[in-house]
Amino acid sequence: MKYPPEPFKIKVVERIERTTDEERRKIIREAGYNVFNIAADKIYIDLLTDSGTSAMSDNQWAGMMHGDESYAGSRNYYHFESAIKDIYGFDHVIPTHQGRVAENLLFSTICNDESVIPNNTHFDTTRANVEYNGALALDLVVDEGRDPSIIAPFKGNMDIKKLQNTLDKYGADRIPLCMITITNNSGGGQPVSMQNLRETKELLQQYDIPLYLDACRFAENAYFIKEREDGYADKSIKEIAQEMFSYADGATMSAKKDGLVNMGGFITMNDGDLAEQITNRLILIEGFPTYGGMAGRDLEAIARGLQEVLNEDYLAYRISQVRSLGEMMDEAGVPYLKPTGGHALYLNAKSFLPHIPQSQFPGQVITCALYTSAGIRAVEIGSLMFAHEDPETGETVYPDLELVRLAIPRRVYTNMQMQYVAESIIEIYKRREELRGLKIVKEAPVLRHFTARLTPVES
Ligand code: F0G
Repeated sequence: MKYPPEPFKIKVVERIERTTDEERRKIIREAGYNVFNIAADKIYIDLLTDSGTSAMSDNQWAGMMHGDESYAGSRNYYHFESAIKDIYGFDHVIPTHQGRVAENLLFSTICNDESVIPNNTHFDTTRANVEYNGALALDLVVDEGRDPSIIAPFKGNMDIKKLQNTLDKYGADRIPLCMITITNNSGGGQPVSMQNLRETKELLQQYDIPLYLDACRFAENAYFIKEREDGYADKSIKEIAQEMFSYADGATMSAKKDGLVNMGGFITMNDGDLAEQITNRLILIEGFPTYGGMAGRDLEAIARGLQEVLNEDYLAYRISQVRSLGEMMDEAGVPYLKPTGGHALYLNAKSFLPHIPQSQFPGQVITCALYTSAGIRAVEIGSLMFAHEDPETGETVYPDLELVRLAIPRRVYTNMQMQYVAESIIEIYKRREELRGLKIVKEAPVLRHFTARLTPVES
């Protein structure tokens, strides 16, 4: 067998209902051709996100029953803290109810109007939290990370030259910290190499600038290092993760990804003064420092999830499930962002539908076709999400990439269901010339993709 089969057996199942073609055509029309407006009960395979959608293990569910809901000093906090310190190795651990709160606490504490925050690529919530606090968010990923057709092992790497230029241009005083997102979600879930982490740290150290990791998918990143980087094949995932964090001064984390839970997050760091300031804010907006917006049982589920995610059998299955979806695309010539990353397949909508201009949302057209023909929910990451008006010229600026992300929840769908997904995409690809563009009939002034309503253009 080319890839490992599922390293688990199923103890509890959740029924999913099938809908008919006719029902789905009506549903998508009523939803204004926007899959965010569809009730989840009407979805067969939901690949909207891998965040908060993991299946927990029997061990995690058993841990939930050990939840100690004391306001202060819950035993589960100590389990949570020790699991994090064991892997991440920082002195302070502050729980938050999800990743963006960790970002909010960090950036609202360290940023001012002059600040500049470099990252390989900021995830949307990270960028929003940086910008909301008046700072400039810069994306400095290596050039190959911006080209969907180049096959390279570490397309998530920070471009060290661009980082050096940023330091020269703005000066170290304006850069309170530098971030690296592992894996690089907005760049296709691509990994960052150990060497790149080491080199970034070496450069920053000369200027006394701390390095923080946006660590949502740290275990998937560690698996890629084991697989692709010289010298790591015989190291355990935990050792690799520990080394990754050894080059950093702190991390923000959405445990909804590699924490294998449905809700939770944290921020962890060495700087005691910063930890104290953040803790004071935490009490104001999240909760007491030993629960930070979560129940005791949630802390226990994270403590156990973080240990489970380091399991190599699990990661081998996880990464190969995503990879095999890419290989099925290759066999049919379907264009996608290469190579497949850790958590998702990103279809390249510009090449998939060259006859539909960006002004008619080719990514959204594919997203709607996937729902209508197969009950699959993906998400457009293209013009609907990012096109905007240039404030000076008034012209519409379109993003370079027009993608459709199919994010794979952890331990949720079987490989047979993935095959169904692949066949459904291929079926649409074969009849792609029949597909027509969409136009917006209603949109909100910000983050329009969540609520916009569209309609097919007349042909
Ligand atoms: N950083 C990265 C790299 C992320 O992918 C996300 C969430 C966050 C931070 C924020 O974490 O949702 O717990 O507040 N990504 C989800 C996604 C929403 O679908 O990719 P959160």
